[in-house]
Amino acid sequence: MLSCSNVGKTYATERGDIVAVRGIDLEVPSGQFAAIVGRSGSGKSSLMAMIGGLSRPSQGVVRVEGADIWALPDDALAQFRNRKIGFVFQFASLLPALRVIDNVALPALLGRRLDAGAAYTRAARLLARLGLAERLDAYPAEISAGQQRRAVIARALINAPSLLLADEPTSDLDERTEMEIMDEFRTLNRDHAMTVIIVTHNLRLAEQADRVFHIANGGLVK
Ligand SMILES: Nc1ncnc2c1ncn2[C@@H]1O[C@H](COP(=O)(O)OP(=O)(O)OP(=O)(O)O)[C@@H](O)[C@H]1O
Ligand SMILES: [Mg+2]
Repeated sequence: MLSCSNVGKTYATERGDIVAVRGIDLEVPSGQFAAIVGRSGSGKSSLMAMIGGLSRPSQGVVRVEGADIWALPDDALAQFRNRKIGFVFQFASLLPALRVIDNVALPALLGRRLDAGAAYTRAARLLARLGLAERLDAYPAEISAGQQRRAVIARALINAPSLLLADEPTSDLDERTEMEIMDEFRTLNRDHAMTVIIVTHNLRLAEQADRVFHIANGGLVK
């Protein structure tokens, strides 16, 4: 379902090139629950952004469900991302001018696969499942960091993606909420065959994955 061949990323900065990811090869079969672990600065977010169609690799090929995603024209890539990939960012990413429920419904409205009524119904259901039933009408600045994180997770799930990419999705949450969110991911993984790739520093969480990739200094550790 997902494969990376020789995928690398070099950032050009004023102080020279920074090699963040060095020619990674990896495969994650459909329906697998995979974890990526590694120290801060090892290249995890850079790799996830390339897999998720958000940041163009400097080298190599990323295939998602057979499609060479970085060979697609921009509009086709945007549509592919919208339909197939759910992304939970490491940092806050809700649109501040929109209410929580609008933020969650937005990808469904943009994808035009649900009408507005159905999109809002689904958004409300997801938010309720993530414990935010009372805060649908709040603006992002009016809810806590952990609640924002849960809203981002609801947004990532709104289009029922076949691939969920989550970059430290539970790092600012208490242990119980963390477990609830992991259970939610595992249920979606099991019942809907959603492929999950999660970046985590929590080794206990990583242990529960079907497969763990260790990354150090931009490369996979065998
Ligand atoms: N936009 C950028 N421009 C230049 N260098 C960058 C950029 N983004 C990341 N880097 C560098 O690339 C390397 C990998 O960064 P990345 O964010 O992928 O690490 P990470 O494993 O996600 O770390 P963390 O656990 O702290 O989130 C680091 O050396 C970082 O400083
Ligand atoms: Mg990161």
